[in-house]
Amino acid sequence: PSRVLSGVQPSGALHLGNYLGALVKFARLQHEIDTFIFVADMHAITVWQDPAALAQQTREIAAAYIASGLDPDKATIFPQSAVREHAELAWIFNCVARLGWLDRMTQFKEKSGKHKERSSVGLYTYPVLQAADILIYKATHVPVGEDQKQHLELTRDIAAKFNHDFGAPGGASAFFPQPEPLIQGPGARVMSLRDGSAKMSKSDPSDYSRINLTDDADAIAQKIKKARTDPEPLPETLDELSARAEADNLVGIFAALSGQTKAEVLAEYAGKGFGTFKPALAELAVEKLAPVGEKMRGLLGDPAVLDAILAKGAEKAREAAAPTLSEVKKLVGFWGA
Ligand code: TYM
Repeated sequence: PSRVLSGVQPSGALHLGNYLGALVKFARLQHEIDTFIFVADMHAITVWQDPAALAQQTREIAAAYIASGLDPDKATIFPQSAVREHAELAWIFNCVARLGWLDRMTQFKEKSGKHKERSSVGLYTYPVLQAADILIYKATHVPVGEDQKQHLELTRDIAAKFNHDFGAPGGASAFFPQPEPLIQGPGARVMSLRDGSAKMSKSDPSDYSRINLTDDADAIAQKIKKARTDPEPLPETLDELSARAEADNLVGIFAALSGQTKAEVLAEYAGKGFGTFKPALAELAVEKLAPVGEKMRGLLGDPAVLDAILAKGAEKAREAAAPTLSEVKKLVGFWGA
């Protein structure tokens, strides 16, 4: 049986990269596969989060999920911290994963920067909790942006080592599946609007580097107008495009928003300059994103409804997670399991 799982951290405003790399894919998959989508609040506190704001940030992510098409009657939407099985499995996985595996994680190196010794221990074991998020539901498919690829590889390594170390005797060793990352299409890696070599990110100090899901039509249009480009018209071929990072990124965003391939976008815009392409992109972005922001604002106007959705989702998630954890405890040999 297939099952989708993914999550987003409630650690700041969501942007176009989160939307195209993850959120739109969740909404698409829910029709085909049993889908679990959570708010990664335990991951968020690996760096400081204001306790007075965290619960509201969690509601904002839930609102963004629903505004981008996730249906709470179809998909299970819940806060990670409300399902304690994630944390319990993460501890066991901390004892399965090897230090050497975590030492290779590039995201920790980026996020800890020059001050490794002052980072939280949670930031270091972050990918182990992520593996628990996925495997507690025995999820088979994980829709994420390109930046999560290495974490998914680690998840697969942890699953394989757990199966090897604790798998039931007699060959029934595939206790955990090997989850497949779903990293597809031109939206899987959206770059900064100011720098085609940096990914669009919540933590970039320049708000002009990203389009936030809550930006209004004017802000979206302004940011695209000011986006960095080169003076050349758009090329004929993907090869030529790939040598021009900023142009490549804007064409990719256009393709992802319109549901086309980059080649299809080039077929329409090759030979045209950014004076033509940028207004078309701005119009498309406003058409697709403005309603999402509006819907988010509407949902956030009634927090009780969001809270009821999260509570019901948490209950369903616990029902799915509990049997996996009790089997794991038996396999590990814990007393009473
Ligand atoms: P987070 O909160 O940083 O980002 C949420 C999702 O958005 C994707 N994303 C992007 N996609 C395309 N272009 C970009 N510029 C861009 N920036 C972000 C991310 O790849 C992600 O899919 N570790 C995860 C949260 C998590 C998780 C999980 C995901 C925790 N446990 C289990 C899947 C399964 C994270 O930090 O996402």
